[in-house]
Amino acid sequence: MFMASDLSDWLCRFWSGPEYKAWIARLADVALRTPTGEVAFLAALIEHAKPRRTLEIGSLFGQTSRVMAEALPEGGRLTTIDPYGGERLPDIIASWPEGLRNKTKFLPVTSGRFFSDLDHVVVAQPEELLDLVFIDGNHEFPFALFDILASADYLTPGGVLLVDNVEQAGPRLAILEFLTLNPAWRVFYGGAVTREPVFSTAGLPLGGPTWAILLSPEDIQVGTAPRKFRGKGGPGNVYKEVTLNVTGGDAEVASARFSVRSYPFDFHLTGHGWQEAHASVTCRRSDKWTADFEKPVTVERRNSDAHFVWELTLAIQCGYLLLDPTKPVLLA
Ligand SMILES: C[S@@+](CC[C@H](N)C(=O)[O-])C[C@H]1O[C@@H](n2cnc3c(N)ncnc32)[C@H](O)[C@@H]1O
Repeated sequence: MFMASDLSDWLCRFWSGPEYKAWIARLADVALRTPTGEVAFLAALIEHAKPRRTLEIGSLFGQTSRVMAEALPEGGRLTTIDPYGGERLPDIIASWPEGLRNKTKFLPVTSGRFFSDLDHVVVAQPEELLDLVFIDGNHEFPFALFDILASADYLTPGGVLLVDNVEQAGPRLAILEFLTLNPAWRVFYGGAVTREPVFSTAGLPLGGPTWAILLSPEDIQVGTAPRKFRGKGGPGNVYKEVTLNVTGGDAEVASARFSVRSYPFDFHLTGHGWQEAHASVTCRRSDKWTADFEKPVTVERRNSDAHFVWELTLAIQCGYLLLDPTKPVLLA
C-alpha cells in the first residue's frame, strides 16, 4: 500500500485550494496535449502520493510523460507505452535531462501486450505492481474498459487510476461499467469522492472536468468479476484446500468459486506439467472461508529449471468481499 488513507480528503482539499492554482500557473508555458489543469492535478497527485511504479497508457509526444517523471519521488519510475510511438519517443526521451531519462521507460506496445507481459513479471517480482496509472490510450469503449480493468488487476491495494477524456462515451461508459463490477471502489470527479459519479451514460454535467480518478480500496476487493491471484509453488508441493482471509465486504452469505492452475513457465514449449482443480464454498460472513479442491493439485517434480506458478481465480456470486492485502488467499 503506497497511499495515505486520507487520499480522498487530500483530493477534495487540493481541488479547491490555492496549491492547485499554483500548479496550473507553473505549467502555463509547458506545451501539452492534455489540458493543463488535468496534467497539473496529476503531477500534484504524484508529488503528494509518491508512487513507486507509474504507467501512462498512450505516450503520444511524451509531454505529459515528462511532467509525470518530474513529479516522481526518488526511486519512482514511469513506464509509458504507445504502439505508434516507436519512431518518436526514443529521440524525445533521449533529449531530456539524465535524471528524468533514468526514471522513464518507453515501450512501443499496446496495453494488451503490456499487461500480458506484466502478468509473468509480477509472479516473481510483486513489487512491479503499479501504484498509479494514467489511462489515455485508445478511447473506444472496449479498449478503455480493458485498460481500466487490466490496470485495476495490476494495481497495488490503495492505488489510483486517472482516466482521461470522460467527455467521450468510451472512457465514460467504461468507468460506469467498472464501478458496477467493483462496488468497493470510489471515484473522484469535479471535487468530490463518491460511490457513483455525477456523470452518466448521457454525458457530463455542464462545464464538468473531462477526467476522473478511480480510487481502489486498501483491502483487496473480490466481486462478481473474476479476480486472479498468483503465487509460486515449489516442485513437489500439494495443494488440497484454499482459505480466504476475509476482512469485510457487503455479502452476509456469499458463494465463491475457485479454480487453481499450476504450470511450469516452459509449458508453452513442452506442453507438460499443467494441473488444475476447482472448489466451491458458500459461507456466512462470520465463517472461516475454507474450501477443499475436488482433487489435490500437485506441482510436478520434473527435470526442469522452469519455475512453477499457481493461479487462483475467484469470483463471488453476488456482492463483494474484502481480503487482507498482505495475504489474501492461503493455499495448503
Ligand atoms: C490522447 S493520445 C495520448 C496523449 C498523451 N497521454 C499526453 O497527455 O500527451 C493517445 C495515444 O494512445 C495511443 N494508443 C492507441 N491505442 C493504444 C493502445 N492499445 N495501447 C496504448 N496506447 C495506445 C495512440 O497512439 C496515441 O498516441
